[in-house]
Amino acid sequence: MHTSEHTGPLSGRLAVVTGAGRGIGRAVTLELARSGARLALVARSAGELTAVRDELTAAGASAAAYPTDLAELPAVADLGARIERDLGPVGVLINNAGVVGPIGPTEQLTAADVDRSYRVNAIAPMLLAAAFLASMRAAGWGRIVNVSTGVVARPAAMLRGNTYVAAKSALEAHSLNLAAELAGTGVTVNVYRPGRVDTAMQGWIREQDPESVGGGLVERFAESYRSGELISPAHSARVLVSGLGGTDTGRIRDVADAG
Ligand SMILES: NC(=O)c1ccc[n+]([C@@H]2O[C@H](COP(=O)([O-])OP(=O)(O)OC[C@H]3O[C@@H](n4cnc5c(N)ncnc54)[C@H](OP(=O)(O)O)[C@@H]3O)[C@@H](O)[C@H]2O)c1
Repeated sequence: MHTSEHTGPLSGRLAVVTGAGRGIGRAVTLELARSGARLALVARSAGELTAVRDELTAAGASAAAYPTDLAELPAVADLGARIERDLGPVGVLINNAGVVGPIGPTEQLTAADVDRSYRVNAIAPMLLAAAFLASMRAAGWGRIVNVSTGVVARPAAMLRGNTYVAAKSALEAHSLNLAAELAGTGVTVNVYRPGRVDTAMQGWIREQDPESVGGGLVERFAESYRSGELISPAHSARVLVSGLGGTDTGRIRDVADAG
């Protein structure tokens, strides 16, 4: 992972990756560093971010950690400005951080849970895009990828995951609208559906009480794990990053599309 050896479209670009401390986000940072990008890492867990930063810098990449709770929207607006002040113009934004909860019967939803899900899954990605658009437009080049989920294509398939499906659908609509707004600017906006990936998020669902969640959701995720169908974060990250060199915009790309 020697950044100086790279001459591709990502070489030397500053990439912001949210949810970079583990799972798909961590794997995306490793893949971006292999392409010569510099990294700004965002998540709440400072310890996880520090570990990823150290892994990247030990491999010769440039990386800085920005521990932030993306549900705190004023902090999100500040974060964008702080990263550009510290590190320069951002060229790549990977909005990967997400939360799957609350899961369970919809009549048990609380305002606080729904609000938090929308903030992390939809509003923070919109605000981060807004924060970096001026730099991307000025450079005539930018790449925004919003990590969604395949269940948006079939919302009824994730019974008891109403908030997650709804918030990720909002994220996808935002992405396609923004892509149209930015047509011809050199800034692309795409959605990425990462597949079923073996991460802490999947583990969290399997740990929930099947009876109180209901709808067979926990059992289906447990079966999917047992059957060995989950893919690795590295696999999904490779497909995401391989799409960043192109000029497609306003697309919804699924990991399975990579063949
Ligand atoms: N795994 C799958 O099968 C799957 C399938 C479809 C879509 N996805 C999507 O893929 C993305 C990555 O998921 P994953 O499976 O890699 O999950 P994960 O292992 O749970 O990682 C989620 C990342 O998001 C960060 N995050 C969560 N809440 C945050 C907050 N309030 N502020 C800042 N960062 C926050 C987490 O860090 P902290 O907790 O430290 O903040 C963590 O780094 C998510 O958007 C998810 O919806 C995953």
